[in-house]
Amino acid sequence: MTMLAEARALHVALPNQSAKRPFRAAPLIHILHGVDFAIAPGEAVGIVGESGSGKTTLGRALLRLLEPSGGQVQFAGQDITHASEATLRPLRARMQMIFQNPLASLNPRRSIAASVAAPLWARGDRADPRPRVLAALERAGLSGSLADRYPHQLSGGQRQRVGIARAIVTEPDFILADEIVSGLDVSTQAQILDLLRQLRRDMGLALAFITHDLSVVRVLCERVVVMHQGRIVEQGRCEDVFAAPAHPYTRRLLSAVPLPEIDPDWLDAEPEEAA
Ligand SMILES: Nc1ncnc2c1ncn2[C@@H]1O[C@H](COP(=O)(O)OP(=O)(O)OP(=O)(O)O)[C@@H](O)[C@H]1O
Ligand SMILES: [Mg+2]
Repeated sequence: MTMLAEARALHVALPNQSAKRPFRAAPLIHILHGVDFAIAPGEAVGIVGESGSGKTTLGRALLRLLEPSGGQVQFAGQDITHASEATLRPLRARMQMIFQNPLASLNPRRSIAASVAAPLWARGDRADPRPRVLAALERAGLSGSLADRYPHQLSGGQRQRVGIARAIVTEPDFILADEIVSGLDVSTQAQILDLLRQLRRDMGLALAFITHDLSVVRVLCERVVVMHQGRIVEQGRCEDVFAAPAHPYTRRLLSAVPLPEIDPDWLDAEPEEAA
C-alpha cells in the first residue's frame, strides 16, 4: 500500500538556543536519530513515549513544520524533505495539526470564525470562507452562533473543538493531534475522542495521535509506536504491543500508566451537545 505520510531514517538536529553565545552559532542538539515512520491513508497510529523522547519533533518534521537534517520525508508519494514553502503550500491544506493547549494556539484577538478560516487563507483561498467555517464548526459539534465569539468566552472542551474545526476546514487527509486531551476533564476527553473517531470515519482521515495516555491509544488507534530518546524502540498493532511488550522501556511505560482510564462505553455514546 502507498503510505500517506512517511519518514525514512529521519534525523533532526536543532540549534540549542539555551546554549547560544553571542556571535557564534548555537551548538546543535540531536533530537531524532534515524526514525522510520509511516502512516497509511485512513490509519490511526498512536505515538507514545516519555516527555522529551521526540514525539512532537517527529510530528513537526512529518508536517514539514521543521526541516530535517537527514533522511527523507514524503507526503502522498512526494519527497518534501527540503521542499520550499511555495511547494508545501498546497500540501499544507492536506495535513493539519491540533495542539495540546487550544487557548495558547488560538489568537485571543481573533474571532472563532477567523481562527477556523486561517488554513483557508493560508492556502491562498480567497472565496468567502463563512460557509465552510460554519460547516466545520458544526462537524466539530459546535453551534454556528459561536463563530463571532472569542476564545476566552468558550469552555476548554469548546476551544478544543474549535482547534478541531480549524484542522478539518480544508478537508485534510492527515491530522496530527499532539496531546490534545491532556488538559481536559475525563468526560470532556471522552467526547473529544469520540468526535475524532467519528471524523476519522466520515472523512477517511489518517490520524497520528501523540499522547502520554496509553488507554487513549488503545481505544483510538490500530497501531502504536513507542519512542525513547529520539528513536522508535517498539511498534506494532496495539493489541500485540499492549499484550506482550517486547522492549523493557515499553513495559515500564505500561506499568506506569493506570489502564484503562477511559470507559470504552463512553466512546460509543452519542456526542453531547457542545454549544
Ligand atoms: N527547538 C528546539 N531547540 C532545542 N531543543 C529542542 C527544541 N525542540 C525540542 N527540543 C528538545 O528535543 C527533545 C525532544 O523534544 P520533543 O518536544 O519532541 O519531545 P516530546 O516527546 O514531544 O516531549 P513532551 O511529551 O514533553 O511533549 C527534548 O529534549 C527537547 O528539549
Ligand atoms: Mg511533545
